[in-house]
Amino acid sequence: METRTAIYERHSTRWFTNEVIPIEQVIDIVSDASQTPSWRNSQPWTTFIAHGETLQNIKREHVALVSAGHQGKSDMEWAHSYTWGQQSKTNMSHWDNQVLSVIGEKISLFGTAQANLFNAQAIIYLSLFEKTSPWSVLDLGAFTQTLMLSATDRGIQSINAYEFVKYPSNLRKHMPIPNDQLIIAGIALGFEDKQAKINEIRTDRNVRSQIIY
Ligand SMILES: Cc1cc2nc3c(=O)[nH]c(=O)nc-3n(C[C@H](O)[C@H](O)[C@H](O)COP(=O)(O)O)c2cc1C
Repeated sequence: METRTAIYERHSTRWFTNEVIPIEQVIDIVSDASQTPSWRNSQPWTTFIAHGETLQNIKREHVALVSAGHQGKSDMEWAHSYTWGQQSKTNMSHWDNQVLSVIGEKISLFGTAQANLFNAQAIIYLSLFEKTSPWSVLDLGAFTQTLMLSATDRGIQSINAYEFVKYPSNLRKHMPIPNDQLIIAGIALGFEDKQAKINEIRTDRNVRSQIIY
């Protein structure tokens, strides 16, 4: 696949089919992502793959925590949208409207999909050591995009979501993530369920206003 095709084909998938992705393929995708550039080649990330039974256990507890009304608290501080700059606030409102225009009165689909971790078939969690440079977040963000583009190239869909990292203690219970590492991001992989209404969501970009020359 052409790189540019992959860039435009990638989009967030919010409900995956039950088709399993072999662990070897997930490892290949993570290996591709390891080609991401980083500050002085520091490669500050560690990846933890949840797959098979581990993933089932994480999902089971995640849905229970959501049902019990636990708000969650990610290792990296969560920021309410009113604290963001005006440009981001405008774009986030636009996103809300785009989502509502697709699922409208079925807005509960969104919560259900999130609570069930989008029926992900693999989730790759990315962590940084607590004692790291703030620049490492930049490197880790780049890693997530390389990972998703590699998945797209292989015909596998993905989503990067806060939902995956909001209960760090659940993740530490099921995966060997040390306490001195912060869980920063989670990326789900799977095959998109083409019948699911929530997967009709597509978002555009406010490109022109962000390019100054
Ligand atoms: C750091 C990060 C956190 C996100 N968290 C969520 C989330 O919790 N739930 C969700 O449905 N989408 C989440 N998204 C997906 C964004 O909504 C999505 O990337 C954005 O709307 C652009 O759409 P696209 O990915 O389809 O191009 C997140 C994306 C990023 C990069």
